[in-house]
Amino acid sequence: MTERTLALIKPDGVSRNLIGEIMKRCEAHGLKVIALKMVRLTNEAAQGFYIVHRERPFYRALAASMSSGPIVAAVLEGEGAIAAYRELMGATDPAKAAPGTIRAALGVGLEQNTVHGSDSPQSAAFEIPYFFSSLEFSARG
Ligand code: RTP
Ligand code: MG
Repeated sequence: MTERTLALIKPDGVSRNLIGEIMKRCEAHGLKVIALKMVRLTNEAAQGFYIVHRERPFYRALAASMSSGPIVAAVLEGEGAIAAYRELMGATDPAKAAPGTIRAALGVGLEQNTVHGSDSPQSAAFEIPYFFSSLEFSARG
């Protein structure tokens, strides 16, 4: 089934000039970039994005990290795009991520793991409109 998923390049990825490298890996994996932008989240906007984690001990640190610098947001489309991009990202902890994945190759650590991807159709349905309006899909969607 053709799906859409939200991909983020986190501040550690943008600050280390990895935007092109990560987009290249997405496209090489067969995922089509159908919407794209760079934004700087406020701390409140980052907390809202990760609201499912509000009870977790790392929630405040995560929001602070995600709002510490610009990020790149993209909507990727393709067959089984949600699982395909999660597979391409690798495990949350770069030290445990499979060889060849983005996090294994480029991640620094658990709190600087370079990329985010929606983890389910329900998450994608919340996360895509968090960043993009319907008008922003008009070019390619
Ligand atoms: P993401 O949402 O960013 O794509 O990552 P994920 O699904 O692989 O992992 P998730 O459990 O959703 O956690 C969100 C982000 O929180 C940070 N984290 N820190 N200190 C910790 O124990 C801890 N656990 C998770 C990571 O940056 C993770 O990507
Ligand atoms: Mg997650």
